[in-house]
Parts: sequence; structure tokens; C-alpha cells
Amino acid sequence: MRLISLGLRYDDNPTIRKDIAMDALIPQKSPYATPVEASKSYYWCSCGQSKAQPFCDGSHKGSGFTPVKFDATESKTVYFCGCKQSANKPLCDGAHKAIA
Ligand code: FES
Repeated sequence: MRLISLGLRYDDNPTIRKDIAMDALIPQKSPYATPVEASKSYYWCSCGQSKAQPFCDGSHKGSGFTPVKFDATESKTVYFCGCKQSANKPLCDGAHKAIA
């Protein structure tokens, strides 16, 4: 969960601050099995808004989220988190199983 602050000003009244919780969207409730190549870097979407899941397409701009870089050390299939709730971002840790 991310918190953002909005400053609202009404004429002579003092600035009013309000915190709003922003959660990542959940593109899917399972991981993305994705082949990666050794020595390449990948940018995992953390906001859930990308149309190129599981990777960033720039849709996060202005959301407070930023992509998470993944450096592949070997060529293999990686399981990128699809629910955006993993504590081991960008990889799946099974947290999706707790989502209703
Ligand atoms: S898809 Fe997010 S923890 Fe498995």
C-alpha cells in the first residue's frame, strides 16, 4: 500500500491535507511464467496498470509506483508476481493464494 498526500486549499481557509491509500491493481491472481535471458535486465510492473504485464510500459507515471528491476543471472523461466502482493518482488512468493 502506498500513501499519497493531497493539498486542498479553499479561499481563506487553511490548507487541508488528506491521506489516501493507493493499492496496486491486481492484473491476475497467479504468477507469469516468463523465460528470461542471462545478463539481461527486466523491469517488472509494480502498479498493475501496465498493458504489457508483467513488465512496465510507463503506465505508472504519477501513481507513486516505480518498476522493479530484475537482472537475470541465467537463462531460465522466472515466475514474476501477477498479483503485486509478493513480499519478494518482483518474484512470486505464493501471496496470491491469500487473495479472495
Ligand atoms: S502472483 Fe503475486 S505472489 Fe504469486
